[in-house]
Amino acid sequence: MLHVATVSELRAALKEVPGPVGLVPTMGALHEGHMSLVRQACAEGATVVASIFVNPAQFAPGEDLERYPRPLEHDLDLLSEAGVDVVFTPTVEEMYGSGSATAVHVEGPAESLEGAARPGHFDGVATVVAKLLIQASPDRAYFGRKDAQQVAVVRRLVADLDLPVQVVVLPTVREDDGLAISSRNAYLTAAQRQAAPVLFRALSAARDRFHSGTQEADVLEAGCRALIAGEPLVESVDYVSVVDADTMAPWGGEGPCLMVAAVRLGEVRLIDNVVLD
Ligand code: PAJ
Repeated sequence: MLHVATVSELRAALKEVPGPVGLVPTMGALHEGHMSLVRQACAEGATVVASIFVNPAQFAPGEDLERYPRPLEHDLDLLSEAGVDVVFTPTVEEMYGSGSATAVHVEGPAESLEGAARPGHFDGVATVVAKLLIQASPDRAYFGRKDAQQVAVVRRLVADLDLPVQVVVLPTVREDDGLAISSRNAYLTAAQRQAAPVLFRALSAARDRFHSGTQEADVLEAGCRALIAGEPLVESVDYVSVVDADTMAPWGGEGPCLMVAAVRLGEVRLIDNVVLD
């Protein structure tokens, strides 16, 4: 596995490699969720690039940028074992130089939910994803459905900027008890960790009701909130919403839809979603 840290090294490394090229963008602290994307990219692509970059632009002041885990050597071992060809680990300086006057701002799917709860977050995501797609020019880029709104934002960005890349979206990988795997789960206390699967249980119950014929969003949302409310360690619910999978706007009754939710257990904010239709 070739390890590069500058854009020019990355471009040189990818100049004459066999295609198709697959890119898996990550912020490191790799777990089974990330590795499912890496494995799929390795199964589908002749050349696989993984990036590890904890992107300051997508963290708001007061979020966990400083304490975000950075186990680089372990990550490199996992990527190498999985058969990744090139790993790209730019520094903040390499990515943004001494400041950057250009940012990518996506409206529509970036505005609600996480966009409303974390102002500026999707500008940071869209800007770094656009840069990575331009830097690596992959044929395919792999993202997890765990971050469903991020997927909608990236799809919109790729369509609007005519980026010649296929966005591949893979299912959420979960712990045995249903909790979506996330590096932030490590911040949970033992008691909060035990309580956390309530989020997926509540979303799954809504999905079951949807499949049994209850398709009124407000009924499904109220049922989901009631189940979550049964768990005292969940201190607040940021949102529970049935949304259109492309626009992230409230579902209008037709087309692909998701139920998305964000909750807080103490300091830790968890997000999850299920596909309804
Ligand atoms: P990060 O949180 O490291 O996630 C990298 C990729 O792994 C994302 O596409 C995310 O959706 C996916 N992923 C995380 N947990 C998953 C799980 N349990 N199951 C399936 N996929 C999962 O998302 C980011 O980084 C950043 O915003 C990034 C796109 C790299 C831009 O900075």
